[in-house]
Amino acid sequence: MGLFDLFSRKKPDAKLFYHTDVHCHILPGVDHGAQDIGQSLDMLRAELDMGINRVMLTSHVTAETFENTVESLTEAYGVLTEAVKDAGLPVELYVSAEYRMDDYWDRQWAAGTVLPMPGNFILLENSFQQERLGLEPLIYELRTKGYIPILAHPERYGYYGMRTTRYASLHDAGAKFQVNLLSLAGSFGRHAREAALWLIKNGLVDMLGSDMHNMEHAYIIKDYLRSRDWAKQSELVRGDIINDRVR
Ligand SMILES: [Fe+2]
Repeated sequence: MGLFDLFSRKKPDAKLFYHTDVHCHILPGVDHGAQDIGQSLDMLRAELDMGINRVMLTSHVTAETFENTVESLTEAYGVLTEAVKDAGLPVELYVSAEYRMDDYWDRQWAAGTVLPMPGNFILLENSFQQERLGLEPLIYELRTKGYIPILAHPERYGYYGMRTTRYASLHDAGAKFQVNLLSLAGSFGRHAREAALWLIKNGLVDMLGSDMHNMEHAYIIKDYLRSRDWAKQSELVRGDIINDRVR
């Protein structure tokens, strides 16, 4: 190999140390993530590049904006799995959702029409304005019924600030915490990044997720995985991460 080859050689893609993405918006046409099959396949190829080969499809289920149902999600899942088979991508897909804890969720939950991940994990998000009233009772109810609630991106709810006790009590109540790689990369601003680092330092992070909505997100995450910061954070968080136990 000549000197020129040495300098022009592209850096290998940095890989994640786990193989299951528990949060993404890759299912086509059901929320503001992937809009068509082509976009979905591009995003799945990006997941594979990062070392992910099992993907939980967690499209938004939100009152008024994305009132998805078991049927709408399962139908899109059927279309995507066929396309993935045709394209020969070595990735396992599971259909689930990211449930906003609003009155639409309350109705779906009461009716028993929700889509958990394997292992009965279920991804829940707060509104960005305020914490759900009665969050702990919901966590207890879910656990009593055999579900394991995952709080999506706790670092993104500005109203939590750095409230040690609030985070600790939600975690003690049995909610798993899923931090976004995009937050660590700085995509959601300084506060979300600092809160994510704080959660890592305090051993409160159980899962990492891409929360990928489009290829722009994929590029940002890929860049982040090549950074010194990721090398450091991944060492700190590695022992706590249970992504691959979602099965
Ligand atoms: Fe999301």
